[in-house]
Amino acid sequence: MLKFIRMGATVALWLQLFIVIFGLFVSSSQCHKLDAFQATLGHIRSRTSPEIQTKAAKDVAERLLGKEISKLFIMILDTDLGPVGKDTFKIIKNPLGEIEIRGTSGVAITWGLHYYLKNYCNVHISWDGAQITLPNTLPEVRVKITSNDRFRYYQNVCTVGYSSTWWQWKQWERNIDWMALNGINLALAFTAQEAIWQRLYRELNLTKEEIDEHLGGPAFLPWTRMGNIRGFGGPLSTNWHNRTIRLQHQILRRMRDLGIVPVLPAFAGHVPRAFVRLFPNANMTKIDPWNQFEDKYCCPYLLEPTDPLFHIIGEKFLRMYIDEFGTDHIYNCDTFNENEPGSTELIYLRNVGHAIFSAMNAVDPKAIWLMQAWLFVHDFIFWTESRAKSFLTSVPTGRMLILDLQSEQFPQYGRLKSYYGQPFIWCMLHNFGGTLGMFGSAQIINQRTFEGRNMNGSTMVGTGLTPEGINQNYVIYELMNEMAYRHEPVDLDAWFNNYATRRYGAWNEYAVATWQYLGRTVYNFIGAQKIRGHYVITRRPSLNISSWVWYDRKNFYSMWNVFLKARYGRGNSTLYRHDVVDITRQALQLKADDLYMIVLDSYKKKNITSFRSSASTLLELFDDLESILASGNNFLLGTWLSQAKDMAIDEEERRSYEYNAKNQITLWGPNGEIRDYANKQWSGVIADYFKPRWELFLNALEISLVQRTKLNTTEINNRIFHEVERPFTFSTKLYPVEPKGDTIDIAMKIISKWYNEETPSLSSSNTKTC
Ligand SMILES: *[C@@H]1O[C@H](CO)[C@@H](O)[C@H](O)[C@H]1NC(C)=O
Ligand SMILES: *[C@@H]1O[C@H](CO)[C@@H](O)[C@H](O)[C@H]1NC(C)=O
Ligand SMILES: *[C@@H]1O[C@H](CO)[C@@H](O)[C@H](O)[C@H]1NC(C)=O
Ligand SMILES: *[C@@H]1O[C@H](CO)[C@@H](O)[C@H](O)[C@H]1NC(C)=O
Ligand SMILES: *[C@@H]1O[C@H](CO)[C@@H](O)[C@H](O)[C@H]1NC(C)=O
Ligand SMILES: *[C@@H]1O[C@H](CO)[C@@H](O)[C@H](O)[C@H]1NC(C)=O
Ligand SMILES: *[C@@H]1O[C@H](CO)[C@@H](O)[C@H](O)[C@H]1NC(C)=O
Ligand SMILES: *[C@@H]1O[C@H](CO)[C@@H](O)[C@H](O)[C@H]1NC(C)=O
Repeated sequence: MLKFIRMGATVALWLQLFIVIFGLFVSSSQCHKLDAFQATLGHIRSRTSPEIQTKAAKDVAERLLGKEISKLFIMILDTDLGPVGKDTFKIIKNPLGEIEIRGTSGVAITWGLHYYLKNYCNVHISWDGAQITLPNTLPEVRVKITSNDRFRYYQNVCTVGYSSTWWQWKQWERNIDWMALNGINLALAFTAQEAIWQRLYRELNLTKEEIDEHLGGPAFLPWTRMGNIRGFGGPLSTNWHNRTIRLQHQILRRMRDLGIVPVLPAFAGHVPRAFVRLFPNANMTKIDPWNQFEDKYCCPYLLEPTDPLFHIIGEKFLRMYIDEFGTDHIYNCDTFNENEPGSTELIYLRNVGHAIFSAMNAVDPKAIWLMQAWLFVHDFIFWTESRAKSFLTSVPTGRMLILDLQSEQFPQYGRLKSYYGQPFIWCMLHNFGGTLGMFGSAQIINQRTFEGRNMNGSTMVGTGLTPEGINQNYVIYELMNEMAYRHEPVDLDAWFNNYATRRYGAWNEYAVATWQYLGRTVYNFIGAQKIRGHYVITRRPSLNISSWVWYDRKNFYSMWNVFLKARYGRGNSTLYRHDVVDITRQALQLKADDLYMIVLDSYKKKNITSFRSSASTLLELFDDLESILASGNNFLLGTWLSQAKDMAIDEEERRSYEYNAKNQITLWGPNGEIRDYANKQWSGVIADYFKPRWELFLNALEISLVQRTKLNTTEINNRIFHEVERPFTFSTKLYPVEPKGDTIDIAMKIISKWYNEETPSLSSSNTKTC
């Protein structure tokens, strides 16, 4: 309404008249969208003062560019710059030669800064590092950009498990800077949940033992929160709680200062087993085991949302959380993420939805329930349209915000008719488990984000990134981030050309050719197969692995060779070197698939000669993989482990965190319950985990060939577990935190060994091989 008053009565009157007439002609849901969501979501925005937001944006610039250079950028907050409910920035070069960036929030200003640096100064800022070389004279500019939607969302509930578990403030700070630079204005902020739960459990008279058997270790918090497991990797120490509380205050302050709205946790119904002792009459069901976790580590209770106790606990938790951290009125809650509701009755589902919302609403009458729509993908059969509709419409329209979690592959907004009126965010999930392995769906995100927004009756209010783990495949996230303001799809070839030029600081024909090739093949996956980072090298050895890719391997090897030619021009670029490691890693990953087929074939044909030679070649490949990864800063197990240990204050904690860090990326569970789900192609993991498994397996195959005995796979798997996997998770071996060797020298040695230029390479590119 404020907006109308400022515009003056006449304009407002015409505008209102226009809206009325417009409403008569256009599908009612479109108008409904603009009006209803402004009314219910309008308050989901920063309430920090303009001065603080401007200062926060300036600080980002200073951290990024240094004190002196950042003075050339004048940052001004102007909430009236663009339409209500969107973010706008405007950039001009003033007569003094300074760049003036106006924006509707701290985020919008920072986003504008990045927009200018990227599009006018050939700068590149990524998770892997930044390329910031400014021209001597800052280029002329006059541009005004408005976001397509209200929100740009960031993070999956698992990201804190797979990527940021061990981050201290410096890393969070860099990450929050990155969010603002990319226009992200809505982000999950889940740190320190356990500290508050622990407080509440104490108040409810749970014993320390009862709390410890529930809350799991740092690397497993997301899954404990979701009720999948309990206690594993724990207990959590007072140091951990204190640390995370301090950290969460820092995170929230910075997000709020910049104008990023943090999404806080709400009670979803998962409770410790001790609740049975404390509340014998409450209606609770033991959750089914998740991925064969034994009883000791699985199956907490789910408190029935319609039971009065749900309301009591939900209210208490949220109050306690808000008392400590304040609120921005938006709460994430996923009761049925990977478990089914107790009944299929529509009325029941309606009551459940209503009960979950009421618990939030009782504490905060402005509460918005943010829900990941993963349940509709995961339990596709259970969640029929009518059931989903009952559940979704049990909450007033606009008081729920849905993350269509993996829109690039399994969108639900179409099937569920724009979530029956609830606003949703189009999210690219892309990554599972933080695994490495190059892939992405450029063409899909370049089209379907627009289709989602423009479809009839669309309730789409944002775009988002929901990867389980970050620090991989940066390129696809950069493309996705642009979908937030672009009005039409980009020319992907041109886009990949620009990407390569920015990333390495200058145009280079080989680098550009490589990225354009990658854009058309590796990053143009359009299938429905689930990409989960499982390749021959990262899987537990067996005779049974089927590997496939959607592009031509031989072409990939040729491009690898082409990419390395860029070393003459770009050899000093840090990001080029990063990508040499990654592309060489990818080539070896593919080569291992090829070799595996030969090993398998010789084994089946009982050809000992050819078996021995292919097996030893495969093992050699692991050594080469280890050495190229060891040369890259961002591919070291040592870093992950040292960050984990840095969180500890005594030996016991250090041991525990080290085990957490190692178990998550290997066995994932005490007995390999979801083994290798979150595997990492890092130096240290290759040498001491992936390779020894294959070594043991190939030896066993050889023995069975030589002795003509049947292979006992049970025995081999037992040995792999007891001799390699488990010891790896408990070992306290120190791994380097500094890279070793010259990446380019190492890559050249590797390619000369593994690449044969004679290989024919011009078959079609989007073929699938199984
Ligand atoms: C916890 O125990 C205290 C002392 O025995 C008691 O006063 C309080 O009511 C108990 N709280 C709950 C929630 O049972
Ligand atoms: C945790 O914080 C509390 C309260 O500030 C303090 O009394 C306690 O000493 C801290 N403990 C650790 C291990 O940091
Ligand atoms: C528990 O809740 C379920 C689902 O609402 C209901 O079917 C069941 O009868 C309840 N049990 C008790 C003991 O109230
Ligand atoms: C969208 O709605 C318009 C008007 O109701 C209708 O003519 C058109 O066919 C619809 N398009 C689709 C793709 O459903
Ligand atoms: C191969 O995989 C299938 C399906 O996972 C499984 O049923 C079969 O037992 C496996 N065979 C061997 C030899 O491991
Ligand atoms: C890299 O830097 C070194 C030292 O500054 C210089 O001698 C060399 O020419 C540079 N190489 C390339 C490819 O730019
Ligand atoms: C075994 O494999 C080697 C190498 O591929 C080949 O030269 C040889 O003929 C094979 N031996 C038999 C008996 O097939
Ligand atoms: C395979 O090995 C397991 C474990 O060592 C053993 O229990 C089993 O009897 C063996 N099976 C055969 C067929 O030898």
